[in-house]
Amino acid sequence: MNSNPVTTNTWVPLTIQDETEPLLKIISAEREFVTDEHGNVWIDAISSWWTMIYGHRHPKLISALQTQIQTLDHVMLAGNIHEAAEKLSTAILELTNFDYTKVFYSDNGSNAIEIALKLAIQYYENHPEFKPRSEFLVFSNSYHGDSIGAMNVSGKNYFNRIFSELRFPTKEFPAPNCMNCPWGKEPTRCNTECLSDLELTIKQKEYAGIVIEPLVFGANGMVFYDKKVLVKLRELATYTNTLLIFDEVFTGMGKLGEFFAYQKADVKPDLLVFAKGLTGGMLPLAATLVPKFIYDTFVSKDPYKAFFHAHTMTGNALACSVGYASISLLKEEGITQVRDLEKKLIRYAKSFQTKMGIMVENVRVMGGIFAFEWKEPVANDEYLNPIGKEIRNSLRNFHILLRPLGRTIYVTPPYTVSDSSLDAIFTALEKTLSGFLESGKD
Ligand SMILES: Cc1ncc(COP(=O)(O)O)c(C=O)c1O
Repeated sequence: MNSNPVTTNTWVPLTIQDETEPLLKIISAEREFVTDEHGNVWIDAISSWWTMIYGHRHPKLISALQTQIQTLDHVMLAGNIHEAAEKLSTAILELTNFDYTKVFYSDNGSNAIEIALKLAIQYYENHPEFKPRSEFLVFSNSYHGDSIGAMNVSGKNYFNRIFSELRFPTKEFPAPNCMNCPWGKEPTRCNTECLSDLELTIKQKEYAGIVIEPLVFGANGMVFYDKKVLVKLRELATYTNTLLIFDEVFTGMGKLGEFFAYQKADVKPDLLVFAKGLTGGMLPLAATLVPKFIYDTFVSKDPYKAFFHAHTMTGNALACSVGYASISLLKEEGITQVRDLEKKLIRYAKSFQTKMGIMVENVRVMGGIFAFEWKEPVANDEYLNPIGKEIRNSLRNFHILLRPLGRTIYVTPPYTVSDSSLDAIFTALEKTLSGFLESGKD
C-alpha cells in the first residue's frame, strides 16, 4: 500500500490530502473482486460507486467493446448519427415502454442533471403559453452531482456550502424520510405531511421543476421513503404545470428491482436522468430522457428554440455499444438477479439485526441496497462523522471495500455477487462492529 496519497501525481478525489490514509493500488478486476499490487483479492462491496452492476469485466460487455472498436470508436454527434447510439436509444426507450421520445447523451450523472435543468428552463422559454421559469424545488438530503448546476439542486451540506454564493434560485425542503418520519407516521397512515410546505410554496409561485431521487436518497444517507411522496409530487407538479425531474443516476438500471424506480413507484416523471449502471460501469455514459411534449417545443426552424448543449464525447460509440450490451443483460438476467439478491439481503439483514441488537438502527433493504446506521451516543449524521472512516479502515482487515456515509453503512454489491462473497461481507461487518462494541467505540 502506498501510505500517503500526496505522493501520487493523481489528485485522488474525496480524500483528505494531508492524511496518511493508505491508498490501495489496484491492478486488476474480475466479477466482484479487485486485486491489489501485492496480489490481495478484495471484494468491491459497493460496486465501485454503484456502477458495476454485473461485476467487473463482464465477458458480454468486453465482447461488445471489442466488436465496436473494429469499426467505429467515436465520431462527434453534432450533424452525425451512428448505429451504436441509435440501437442504444431504441433499447432505452423500449425499457421505458416509450414513456419518453428522445435520449440525450452525456458522460456522467452530473452533466445529465445539468441537461435536465437546462431543458426544463428552455421548455418554458420555448412554450408559447408559459412565462419563463427558472427556479427549482429541491430536497435537503438529495445529491445530484458536483458540477455547479447539479450541486445547486442538491441539498445544502458540507460538500457544497462553500459554493453557496453560486447558487441560482432554488427552494429547499426537508427531505421525506420514512425511516424516521418527523411526524411519527407510518407510511400506511401518512398523508404526506412532509410535503405541506412544498404544497403551499408551489401554489404561490411558478417553478421550473421539482428535482428528486425517487424512493432512495443515495449519497446523502441511503434514506428510503414511500412512493406516496412521489404520487403527491406528481399531483402537485401536474396541477401547477411544473416539470417533475427524477434523478435515477443511482436507482436506474434495476437497482430497486425494476428497470427504473419510477416504474416501481408507478409515477412517471417529465424528465428522467440515469447513468452509472448504464454501461455496467465499464465506460462513462449518461442519459437524459425527454418526452414528446417537451421535445416538441424544441422542434422549430427558429435557431433560438434549439437546445445548444453538447459534450465533446456525447454518444461515444464504444460507450453506446457497451450500454446496449448492458441493457440486454439487464433484460435477460439482471432484473432476476437483483430480485434474488434482494431476497438474500433481507435474510442477511434479519440475522444482522438480531446479532447487532440495539447498536444498529434502521436496518433496511430495497432491491440491491442494504443499509443501516451505527448507533452513537451523539448521533451526528454528517458524512464527516469519523466513525465512517474507522469502520471503513477496519473492514480493510477483511479485504472488503466499503465507503460508509458517516455513520450510515451500506452495501450495494453487483447483482451477480456470489453467496460466498455475501457471506464474507456480512461476516466482516459483524466481526468489525462487534470489535467496536468490545473496545467501547459506541
Ligand atoms: C443520484 C445521483 N445523481 C447524480 C450523481 C452524479 O453522478 P456523477 O458522479 O456521474 O457525476 C450521483 C453520483 O453519485 C448520484 O448518486
